[in-house]
Amino acid sequence: MKDATGSDKAFWEEFWLHPDGKENREAASIKMVPLLERVCDFSSIGSVGDYGCGSAPTLFKLAAKYPKCQFHGYDISERVIEENRQTASDDSLSNLSFHVDQLPALRCTSSHDLVLSIATLHYVLDIEEAIATLFARVRPDGMMIFNYPNIQTRAWYLQSESMNSPQLQRRFTLVLEGKNLTSMRSIHMITGRRPKNFWTASGEKSKQGNICVFLRK
Ligand SMILES: C[S@@+](CC[C@H](N)C(=O)[O-])C[C@H]1O[C@@H](n2cnc3c(N)ncnc32)[C@H](O)[C@@H]1O
Repeated sequence: MKDATGSDKAFWEEFWLHPDGKENREAASIKMVPLLERVCDFSSIGSVGDYGCGSAPTLFKLAAKYPKCQFHGYDISERVIEENRQTASDDSLSNLSFHVDQLPALRCTSSHDLVLSIATLHYVLDIEEAIATLFARVRPDGMMIFNYPNIQTRAWYLQSESMNSPQLQRRFTLVLEGKNLTSMRSIHMITGRRPKNFWTASGEKSKQGNICVFLRK
């Protein structure tokens, strides 16, 4: 059941109780590490905030590799945040912490040199408010990297056979109904910065329907 902001906390608590496709998801998330390293110099970054971090494979990798940088993961799901805290403690990663928080209006006010939000804005109704909130968490001279649903994402999902699954239909309702689609132009208007394609900047092929951008403050 979605709340007034369109978020489906119950869905995500259940999802993290029985996370399906865990291996594929974690592999995709870990693949982000070298791409992020091509665009960001982690040796000069003091703090990273990842919003909608889930089980946070990217953060766990980066935190082990860059002990001088502080990494913070945020998520709507208390279950996944509690599990991550336990894993970070088991792995003695003192530069990695986790917080329950919910887009589009965040409670935590910390700002970061790098703000990430990957595969999360698809689940937020007021995506433009979420982008504005995330951009406000970027420190001066910092960077923000995120992907988002647009018209092509919706067209791709509508013709995808996997969307016959009721679970995926529930998960992607907002995108399927076209309720939270945005565009480069809107992001430029919200932030005052021109977003650039993260895939091409990090040496990847551009992905139709999965646009990921970065912008500097
Ligand atoms: C598909 S997972 C992506 C996880 C991670 N970013 C990755 O790329 O592997 C989406 C995550 O967003 C979280 N989420 C969903 N709605 C949210 C909201 N309104 N605010 C914060 N997190 C949310 C979910 O609990 C889930 O962990």
